[in-house]
Amino acid sequence: MSNLALLRLILLLSAITTCCCAVFSRKDMDATVPQIIASNGYPIEKHRVKTEDGYILQMHRIPAGKRSARRSNTYGGKGKRAVLIVHGLLGSSGDFVIMGPRNSLSYILADAGYDVWLGNLRGNMYTTHQNLTRNDPAFWDYSFHEHGKYDAPAMIDKVLNVTGLSKIFYIGYSMGTTTFFTMMSQKPEYNDKLIAFVALAPAVYIDNMKEISVFFLKSMDIATTLRQRGMLAVGLKQDIMDLVAENFCTAKNPDQDVCMRFIYAIVGEDYEQHNWDMTPIIIARAQPASWRQLEHYGKIAMTSVFTEWDDGMEGAVKPYKLSNVRVPVSILYGENDLLVEKSGILRLAKSLNETGVLHSIKPGCNWPKFNHLDFVFAKDLGKLVNRPLVRHLDELYNKYYQQ
Ligand SMILES: *[C@@H]1O[C@H](CO)[C@@H](O)[C@H](O)[C@H]1NC(C)=O
Ligand SMILES: *[C@@H]1O[C@H](CO)[C@@H](O)[C@H](O)[C@H]1NC(C)=O
Ligand SMILES: *[C@@H]1O[C@H](CO)[C@@H](O)[C@H](O)[C@H]1NC(C)=O
Repeated sequence: MSNLALLRLILLLSAITTCCCAVFSRKDMDATVPQIIASNGYPIEKHRVKTEDGYILQMHRIPAGKRSARRSNTYGGKGKRAVLIVHGLLGSSGDFVIMGPRNSLSYILADAGYDVWLGNLRGNMYTTHQNLTRNDPAFWDYSFHEHGKYDAPAMIDKVLNVTGLSKIFYIGYSMGTTTFFTMMSQKPEYNDKLIAFVALAPAVYIDNMKEISVFFLKSMDIATTLRQRGMLAVGLKQDIMDLVAENFCTAKNPDQDVCMRFIYAIVGEDYEQHNWDMTPIIIARAQPASWRQLEHYGKIAMTSVFTEWDDGMEGAVKPYKLSNVRVPVSILYGENDLLVEKSGILRLAKSLNETGVLHSIKPGCNWPKFNHLDFVFAKDLGKLVNRPLVRHLDELYNKYYQQ
């Protein structure tokens, strides 16, 4: 995970040392998620969620598909199925709408009749705090431990409250799955509020990140250094991100590309599934993270244990209780995912199988180069992953849903 921080730093340096001007359509870079959803003709609602510790999260809801929305304004009703989708590191609700109605999960689910709720975890642009500003170091004092303890439960309760349903689906991507597992360890009563959990590229065992974590977080200790120099969070000001995106990430083929090559070194290479128009948009839309998030992942990588942060990197190793999970879990992974390698996913599956909650584990699709980011940005995402995923959700519903 720490190499994402490195990526940011290097992009920053490149931005400062070079300067040129590109004329660029800023629409997809700057539009908010509700604007994007509305521009695609789908109904959109914003919901405000307050966590126990004062963070305010904006959720984005697509309560119905395009057609049913035109037919009537009454959503819900009998047999309605709601799904909460939780994003990954540096992500937001935008990750599930940005590829458009043919590809992005939100639209495909909504058109299939699902009531779609997109979560936003503390730290990204759709979140604030009741007493703290983003310039307060305390705002950034969290990791996915708090995402799991406070944010996910508050969002689940909001969905249940608004829909009146007793149970919903939870789909997590990458850190959105880490959040699920930390939630269940700390608040197992949330098992009762879910039908099933779909884990896309789950980030729980990341031994493959051990060396790089040791280097950046221990030997160099970049987190402490940059924190001391006043860099409160991992991420750049939006205008700098835009500058980088517009000037370095506009190549249209692998020979001229620096941006994707860099990202692929971290997540696995898959040029065939890359939509070149998306490179600057992916960069410009990346969200900040807390240093603690990287450090916590680093501790997990270094110890090979899915451990709490507790007293920090050198503090006690205190495993989260994966055995607290009682809802069926279905895992999808990328064969070419360098960030969360298959060996780690199999280890997670084995542990869930031992407690009897593993429903299935399989590749996200049959494309051998499918990488970590392909779960949100692949060119043929709809056909490869998301349409089959909706059918999978239907199966899970029929098998596991009881009032
Ligand atoms: C925010 O400030 C109010 C008023 O000072 C206080 O009552 C409340 O506990 C604070 N909330 C948090 C989460 O710190
Ligand atoms: C939703 O929350 C409100 C306010 O707390 C409460 O009055 C209402 O009964 C809740 N509705 C449902 C369906 O849980
Ligand atoms: C799960 O456990 C059963 C036996 O309890 C075994 O047959 C099956 O292969 C295991 N599946 C996975 C994916 O580990």
